[in-house]
Amino acid sequence: MDKIEDIIKGDCEATKQLKKLVSMVSLSPSTVLLRGETGCGKDVVARAIHYSSKRKGQLVNVNCAAIPSELLESELFGHEKGAFTGADSQRQGRFELSDFGTLFLDEIGDMPMTLQAKLLRAIETKKIQRVGGKKEINLDLRLVCATHQNIEQKIEEGSFRADLFYRINVFPIEIPTLAERNDDIPILVEHMIEELKSYGAQIPKFDNSALRALKEYIWPGNVRELKNVIERASILFPNKLIDSQNIKDNLIRISLPQDEEEKEELWNLTSDLVKLNKNDTQETADHILPHPSHYKKWFEYMDKIDLRRYLSEVEITLIESALEKNKGSVTKASECLKINRTTLIEKMKKLSIQKVTEN
Ligand SMILES: Nc1ncnc2c1ncn2[C@@H]1O[C@H](COP(=O)(O)OP(=O)(O)OP(=O)(O)O)[C@@H](O)[C@H]1O
Ligand SMILES: [Mg+2]
Repeated sequence: MDKIEDIIKGDCEATKQLKKLVSMVSLSPSTVLLRGETGCGKDVVARAIHYSSKRKGQLVNVNCAAIPSELLESELFGHEKGAFTGADSQRQGRFELSDFGTLFLDEIGDMPMTLQAKLLRAIETKKIQRVGGKKEINLDLRLVCATHQNIEQKIEEGSFRADLFYRINVFPIEIPTLAERNDDIPILVEHMIEELKSYGAQIPKFDNSALRALKEYIWPGNVRELKNVIERASILFPNKLIDSQNIKDNLIRISLPQDEEEKEELWNLTSDLVKLNKNDTQETADHILPHPSHYKKWFEYMDKIDLRRYLSEVEITLIESALEKNKGSVTKASECLKINRTTLIEKMKKLSIQKVTEN
């Protein structure tokens, strides 16, 4: 479990569950299928599985989406000398290199149809043949696969073999999104800061409002996006104190400034914002909405949702906060919401939203 703790950071309920599953499966030879959004830690979990498995061989990664399909076969299975033009010598493939270790097939959803039958056979028999070779090579194989795609849909569309799916879907692990484990954010930030420190970066400090803002954000790019934000913070705010406004205006929304001068300018700008912010008691009134994909799992946990009521509540919240942000100006609020002014007025009437006095 020590190795797992070292590799997978975080201790919220969802992360504890994840680590438990990893510790349960890592000692078995079973094939694992890691599923989860981009940047949520599929590579991290694959490493945790391998390094806590006691397998003596190495962890070998293959990103099926990154290798051109015509090269993938020889990359996976190796080739004999003369197997094809350019095959000047015999070469071991990644299957062989992972013997007694772990083969991590990343983005398995992108495996070309033409290779899927051969892959299925290798998994079933734990034997492979190099391209252009006749000899069967026995392997002590442990497979971890990952995908961010909906493989079931690919099966329906005919671009993924159902029999291969059942072979790899032995022990599926769904990795939570960062929004689902946002209580881990302070620990993750601390870990990322320590890492940056070890590279000699002048690191910033995050005040409580900054940590709260990080927890409220929806993180479509998950932990990778958080890592980018922290790295950006160390460049833009070295040795400075970062608050929620800096997070929202300079670290999540605004792209990196181009040069030193711009950096200074940005800092001056945000220093003013810090002052403004101190007098602003409305600071906590922001409304952060969940990512639409987070509703996907709704009915696994809940029985009902009053769709019409919920959607109109979302609409009311967004309209009210747009009006508030624009000090009651309907014209400006309608621009923020990307709807016509007249549409906004109609909606306000329909939803009984009070007009705030413009000032
Ligand atoms: N639990 C975690 N603890 C520490 N670091 C993490 C954790 N999860 C993710 N990371 C970091 O976040 C970044 C993205 O993680 P990773 O590459 O594993 O995501 P992924 O799911 O494989 O993404 P993709 O779908 O793009 O391949 C990496 O830098 C990784 O170190
Ligand atoms: Mg990955």
